[in-house]
Amino acid sequence: MTTTAITHIAALVTNDPSLGDNSPLGLIQDAAVVIEGDRVVWTGESSKAPATDIAVDAAGRAVIPGFVDSHSHLLFAGDRTQEFNARMSGRAYTAGGIRTTVAATRAATDEELSANVARYLAEALRQGTTTFETKSGYGLTVEDEARALRIAARHTEEVTFLGAHIVSPDYADDPAGYVDLVTGPMLDACAPYARWIDVFCEKGAFDGDQARAVLTAGRAKGLHPRVHANQLGHGPGVQLAVELDAASADHCTHLTDADIDAMAQSATVATLLPGAEFSTRAAWPDARRLLDAGATVALSTDCNPGSSFTSSMPFCVALAVRDMGMTPDEALWSATAGGAAALRRTDIGRITPGARADLVVLDAPSHVHLAYRPGVPLVHEVWRRGERTGA
Ligand code: NIG
Ligand code: FE
Repeated sequence: MTTTAITHIAALVTNDPSLGDNSPLGLIQDAAVVIEGDRVVWTGESSKAPATDIAVDAAGRAVIPGFVDSHSHLLFAGDRTQEFNARMSGRAYTAGGIRTTVAATRAATDEELSANVARYLAEALRQGTTTFETKSGYGLTVEDEARALRIAARHTEEVTFLGAHIVSPDYADDPAGYVDLVTGPMLDACAPYARWIDVFCEKGAFDGDQARAVLTAGRAKGLHPRVHANQLGHGPGVQLAVELDAASADHCTHLTDADIDAMAQSATVATLLPGAEFSTRAAWPDARRLLDAGATVALSTDCNPGSSFTSSMPFCVALAVRDMGMTPDEALWSATAGGAAALRRTDIGRITPGARADLVVLDAPSHVHLAYRPGVPLVHEVWRRGERTGA
């Protein structure tokens, strides 16, 4: 197998303290990375790099692990420009807008849905995302949810069934009947394509009992839980996520002290989605309190046409630093290793021997520039599974 060395890296983020400076980012100055096939096989100081078939000179740029976007909703058609405009004129965000996207998504062909996913993925890859999770949730019929997941599974291995996004408009007068559909025939049709099951546990969507019914039914079919929790207000979502050992509780915008303690004492990752607060003009999640309590924090885009229409992890990193009290180091860790933890993966989100060779060469001498130079396209090139994709 061909070996390639990327040399003269000004600062390499490995996310393994023992490989670098003992900080969580495991930084190595003047570093090199050696790739064989789709894997990293060596990291260290550039002067000590072993001989390889190919050498690529990073010329003093920084290298970071590819971003792991562990929360997106890419299976949709249409957009909601008017709703965004209304919000920016003072209207509040509600989950009701989801119905607009459900209508557009049901009307779209398979080809249109697949082309949309491919387009947003290409957009994300150019910005350094090498792994992404995505969900259904804009079909809300057995057929429409199953086709969304079938299409999603062609693009990523991290697929989530979110039939419980809102009660389908077809069941407006019978929410219990909709929960029966989601936990019965819809789950049967969707489980073969998915790894995860999710529920929007929120006023106006599903309450704690309904959410528990959805997640436990999914678990019985071999899907692992993750939860949209505490986005629009306080509620039972976070505690339920911890109780069921969900991989992640996502949003976490409104947390009590008890919620924070529960997260800190669990393996459930708090996935923060600053694009949603930005695009809905909501209060920021308190990342500082979560981190100081010892919770594991991930950062993701939540890319969707309603509450957060961005595919940019660098943008989310910059928001987290500016507005959520995270340091540049913490934000980068959360957008890479944190996302991997939220997907319960150890082969991504790090640049260590044995890990997948997913890395981003930045047009900057340090990862700190992602927040220090917000909005600037700093991705020089992206390596995905050992292949150089350009930027
Ligand atoms: O994560 N919270 C629920 N779902 C999405 C929003 C979906 C929409 O508005 O279309 C979210 O923010
Ligand atoms: Fe979401």
